[in-house]
Amino acid sequence: MKILILHGPNLNLLGVRETDKYGIQTLDDINKDLKRLALQLKVEIEIYQSNSESFLVEKIQSATNNFDGILINPAAYTHTSIALRDAVVAVKKPCVEVHLSNIYAREEFRHNSYLAPVCIGQISGFEHRSYILGLEALVNYLKNK
Ligand code: DQA
Repeated sequence: MKILILHGPNLNLLGVRETDKYGIQTLDDINKDLKRLALQLKVEIEIYQSNSESFLVEKIQSATNNFDGILINPAAYTHTSIALRDAVVAVKKPCVEVHLSNIYAREEFRHNSYLAPVCIGQISGFEHRSYILGLEALVNYLKNK
């Protein structure tokens, strides 16, 4: 089983960026935790971060033949990107959306996610642990499908 893990814009700045909201873990710390969990779950993962919407769309498109599922933190594109949503629909792979912060407890413009309705589920508000919970949920879903 192979899972594509995507980090959206500004997540490369984790650890220094708004640590009160996103925690002190760097993206590298999160990726190390995900790699450890992937070994335990016996799944392969590929991790990709981009600040560019078009690169993220292309990476999602690559899931058609190469991946069984997608774990994504679309970051600010959550609230703006019909293109990312359309890409998820097009590839027909189960997708889990994660957020470090609880987007529903923040500004109103963050309450809408264009992607959530086309994902199998969303995990929001557990800082770096959202990714761990998200990967577990996705793998569990795929193993029981
Ligand atoms: C975020 C929440 C988004 O609203 C924000 O734009 C981010 C990070 C989160 O993980 O909490 O960049 O996706």
